[in-house]
Amino acid sequence: MGYGTKEEEDMRRETQPTEKCYLVGVDFPRDRSMFSIDESLEELGQLAETAGMEVVGSNTQKLSAPVTSTYIGSGKVREVKTAMAATGAKTCVLDDELSPAQQRTLERAFGGEQAGIKVLDRTALILDIFAQHARTREGQLQVELALYQYRLPRLTRLWTHLERQSGQGGVGLRGPGETQLESDRRIINEKISALRRTLESVRAHRKRQRNSRKKMDIPTVSVVGYTNAGKSTLVNALTTSTIFAEDMLFATLDPTTRRAQLPEMAVHPEVLITDTVGFIQKLPTQLIAAFRATLEEVVEADVVIHVVDYSNPMREAHEETVDSVLEDLGAGHKPTITVWNKLDLVEESLEDVSLAAVEREHTIAVSAKEKQGLENLVAEIGLVLTELMTDVEVIVPYDRGDIMNEIYTQGAIEYEQYLAEGTYIAAAVPTALSKKLKTIRVDLEAEEVEELSEAEMWKQLAKKRQATTNP
Ligand code: GTP
Repeated sequence: MGYGTKEEEDMRRETQPTEKCYLVGVDFPRDRSMFSIDESLEELGQLAETAGMEVVGSNTQKLSAPVTSTYIGSGKVREVKTAMAATGAKTCVLDDELSPAQQRTLERAFGGEQAGIKVLDRTALILDIFAQHARTREGQLQVELALYQYRLPRLTRLWTHLERQSGQGGVGLRGPGETQLESDRRIINEKISALRRTLESVRAHRKRQRNSRKKMDIPTVSVVGYTNAGKSTLVNALTTSTIFAEDMLFATLDPTTRRAQLPEMAVHPEVLITDTVGFIQKLPTQLIAAFRATLEEVVEADVVIHVVDYSNPMREAHEETVDSVLEDLGAGHKPTITVWNKLDLVEESLEDVSLAAVEREHTIAVSAKEKQGLENLVAEIGLVLTELMTDVEVIVPYDRGDIMNEIYTQGAIEYEQYLAEGTYIAAAVPTALSKKLKTIRVDLEAEEVEELSEAEMWKQLAKKRQATTNP
């Protein structure tokens, strides 16, 4: 699609004047259980900056319910119009999703498209940022689909009649290159259907990849967190690979899986670590479906690492947002390690915060950027994975050295005894291996094992050796 590369996008930003925008938020009662209106507006400002705009002012209003036609009250509309004229802002960004009619009415009220006035909402900003950062084919298709779905009911002259190829038209108007022809609703609808079909096949491919990963019997760890929490930086630090990490909201749209060698972990020398898309409050409905598909990785992971930016004053609200999304996804019950990140940015020492972390279940304090505290995290991953192991009792036939090898390398052996049919083993092994062992498991009465004297065991072992040396 016509977004251009990151380099082209950077160049466009440097050569075009920065778009000035004015923010407007509405404070509803019973609404912001996690975020105050000021916090929400501050975040909106960061989103606007991440999208490449300059915030020149903001305004809020307390309302019991949105005004049907303009979302904000008529007095506030006049106030914002004056402020926009005074600051030179042609773009107004509302902190909630507007209906297409509200967006059009507000645009007219602020001076209309002849004056170049544009009204955007939080959804348009988030979609714009996603559009700039989608890396994989699936991510790009998801954003393209979401953008078309968002724009279809909002087709107006400003949105359609301008010839907008890659990077032109400013924030909220970037994305799939639009021509006169494409502005036709029928064609957009056809495009939506085609995108859905392509996405289906891409997803089927991803599912096959995931299944083949599963067959590798390596435990999987999914890293989740609020946008900008430091997920990519942490995965980088753990795997020493270079996943895109920069100080922008939503730098990662697509899950990226890396294989990590974790030498400190005796039981699991290796894990697969998946970085996922950042979460955010008031996630656009168009993207929730896309998230669901992307976050299947999380639902199927053995362990979830929830990264929290500990230096962010809104960290508790961020944590709650992520928890509620995980709950919605059906991943709320997963064994989860909470990582308090960016400890280098806070006044308290890493040691002090680590002490507070010990009070909580599975919580580790780190600085991913400075690579501090990572050994504690690695140890915790090992611990949680060990807790996840399944107890098995099995008799492995003497000709199955391959199975014995897997038990030795992946499991923790509690008891081992040589019997006539093979080696009796009681061990804790990863669930995947325990399923495999079921196929060779021999039913066995516990007494049978205990009744076997040491002398008998040695006799049998000698017999087995004889059989292998003189077949
Ligand atoms: P999204 O893709 O938006 O979800 O972001 P993310 O959670 O993957 O965050 P990312 O790793 O891209 O980091 C965001 C910013 O925080 C980058 O500028 C990082 O350099 C910075 N960062 C990450 N970890 C730390 C840390 O421990 N200390 C400091 N000071 N900065 C950090």
